[in-house]
Amino acid sequence: MNTSEVLSAEGVELCYGETPAVRGAQLTVRRGEVAAITGQSGSGKSSLLYCLAGVLPVARGEVRFEGRSLSELDDEELSALRRERFGFVFQYGELLPELTIEENTALPLRLAGRRKAEALAAAGEVLGRLGLADLRTRRPSQVSGGQSQRVAVARALVHRPAVVFADEPTGSLDSANAAAVLDEFLSLARSRGTAVVLVTHDADVAARADTHYTMRDGVLACRAREAS
Ligand SMILES: Nc1ncnc2c1ncn2[C@@H]1O[C@H](COP(=O)(O)OP(=O)(O)OP(=O)(O)O)[C@@H](O)[C@H]1O
Ligand SMILES: [Mg+2]
Repeated sequence: MNTSEVLSAEGVELCYGETPAVRGAQLTVRRGEVAAITGQSGSGKSSLLYCLAGVLPVARGEVRFEGRSLSELDDEELSALRRERFGFVFQYGELLPELTIEENTALPLRLAGRRKAEALAAAGEVLGRLGLADLRTRRPSQVSGGQSQRVAVARALVHRPAVVFADEPTGSLDSANAAAVLDEFLSLARSRGTAVVLVTHDADVAARADTHYTMRDGVLACRAREAS
């Protein structure tokens, strides 16, 4: 294994019942790499992300994180991995309505057992970087759709994961805010070596990623790799 390789997929297949959604996907993501996946609706992008993140078990093939196959991990190890080493931005809004914006953002740290004051301080810092500091004490119902999407990005980053999986993280953002979210991913990738796998329909976002994959009818193809 190349030591800079953090995540890889080899011949990954996923089916819902009889219907194949991912067919033999091959992918490698290195430390500090931002990989974008584009493709039509229903082509299997979210399904692939779920396989890579160990949310759905693969029917065939293998996903490796830091050289270790996810299929070797028991349920407890897998949930610890998802909780501590992975960050998620899901396709649909999923902030907890009864928590404030800063409590939502701090959640991964609280789940990892960190003290409340420490977790809230870290949440405040990442919210500030994303231009959301003023919203700290509001609840999700009191912020806009685009703001809650950026809060979901902040929450995915707060515990400094090794890999961030983001499904349409800029889907409801205007181009300036979409660019700001991508800037944050790129800066984390460069400064901390975070690997980012993001699904996007935004051609500008995909063009700025290090690697661009396309998905069609469940088949993943690497479109370009730029020297970084
Ligand atoms: N839970 C499920 N059960 C059955 N079929 C599913 C399920 N989830 C997705 N599918 C099907 O699998 C295929 C891939 O879906 P997926 O959600 O991965 O697509 P996508 O590329 O993320 O689409 P979008 O851009 O609309 O989010 C689609 O044909 C979809 O209808
Ligand atoms: Mg999807």
